[in-house]
Amino acid sequence: MKKAVNEQYGGVEQIKIIETELPKISNGEVLVKVEAAGLNPKDILVRKGKFKRFTGNKFPQGVGYDFSGTIEDPKNSTFQKGEKVFGMVNGWRGRCCAEYVDVKAKELYQMPENISFEAAAGVPLAGQTALQAIRDQGKITKGSQILINGASGGVGTLAIQIAKELGGEVTTVSSSKNLELCSSFGADHTISYETTQLLELGQSYDIFFDVFGNYSFRKMEGLLKNKGIYITTVPKADIIKEQFSNLFRSKKARLVVVRSNERDLRWFSQKIAEGKIKPVVDQVFDFGEIQAAQTYIESKRAKGKVIVKMNT
Ligand SMILES: NC(=O)c1ccc[n+]([C@@H]2O[C@H](COP(=O)([O-])OP(=O)(O)OC[C@H]3O[C@@H](n4cnc5c(N)ncnc54)[C@H](OP(=O)(O)O)[C@@H]3O)[C@@H](O)[C@H]2O)c1
Repeated sequence: MKKAVNEQYGGVEQIKIIETELPKISNGEVLVKVEAAGLNPKDILVRKGKFKRFTGNKFPQGVGYDFSGTIEDPKNSTFQKGEKVFGMVNGWRGRCCAEYVDVKAKELYQMPENISFEAAAGVPLAGQTALQAIRDQGKITKGSQILINGASGGVGTLAIQIAKELGGEVTTVSSSKNLELCSSFGADHTISYETTQLLELGQSYDIFFDVFGNYSFRKMEGLLKNKGIYITTVPKADIIKEQFSNLFRSKKARLVVVRSNERDLRWFSQKIAEGKIKPVVDQVFDFGEIQAAQTYIESKRAKGKVIVKMNT
C-alpha cells in the first residue's frame, strides 16, 4: 500500500509517499481503508521535530492523525466490513495519510451518512479538541459568555458551532476578512484582532478559549469573570505552571490535550446527522499533493479544515 512518511525532521521536502506492507492488527484494533485524511498543525510540529521527546529518532515516520474510510478488517470488534467510519489515532505515531490504517476500535465511530468522506475526515481531531475544551474544561452552560480566539481555523469553526449548540453566547476573534465566516457559523459577536485590542474590550467572559494560543492566562485574566476559565491549546511552559495554581484562585487556567474516544465521536456523528454541526472544509488536496497541503496548513491561514483525499 501507499503511505506518506517523513524521512527525517525538517521541511516539507522530507515528506515522501512510499510503498509498504499493510499494517498488521491485533485484538482491539481494526484495519480501515482510508478515503480521506485530515491535516493538522500537529503534522507540522511533529515534522519539524518539536516533539522529538515523544516521536524519537527512528525514520521513516508516518504522517496524519485523523481519517475517514471504511472498515477493511473488523477483527473481533462490533464493526462490520465496509462500514463507514471516522476517527483519530491517539499518541504520536501518525499514520492516517495512507491507503490503510491500523487503529484501536475505541478511537473511531460510524461516520454520519449525510456528509462526504472529505468532510468527515476533518472532524475527529479538531472537533474533539473543541468539544473537550468547551464542554469538559470550560463547563459551558446555557448563557455562558465565551470568547474564542482563532475562530476561523480548523478547531475554531467547530468550536463556534459547539459553543452555540451547548447554549453559549459566542464572541469570536479573527482577522477582518473572516468576520463574516465566523458569523455564518453562528457567532453572536465578531471581533477583528486587526482593529480591536482584546484587553480594551471592557467586557468579561465566563470562558476564554485561546485556540490560536497567543495569549497567556496572566495577560487575559482581567477579561475573565470571577470563576472564569481560560483554556489554551498550546502546551507552553507557563500554562503547565498556571494549572498548579488553580487550587488557590477562583479563575482557572487549563490546557486541552485532545484524546479520541467513542463517546465524543458519537456526539459528532449524531449532531452532524441532525444538521446541528456542519464540518468546514477549506481545501481538498490529492494524496500526491501532500507537500502542498502541509504548506497551506503551515501558512496558518486555513479557513476550516485542509483534507487529503486518498483515492485519486
Ligand atoms: N492541545 C491539543 O490537543 C490541540 C489539538 C488541536 C489543535 N491544537 C493547536 O491549536 C492550534 C489551532 O489549531 P487549528 O487546527 O485550528 O489550526 P489552523 O486551522 O491552522 O488555524 C488557522 C487559523 O488561525 C488563525 N490565525 C492566524 N493568526 C492569528 C492570530 N494572530 N490571532 C488569531 N487567529 C489567528 C487564522 O485566522 P485569520 O486568518 O482570520 O487570522 C486561521 O483561520 C494549533 O496551534 C494547534 O497545534 C492543539
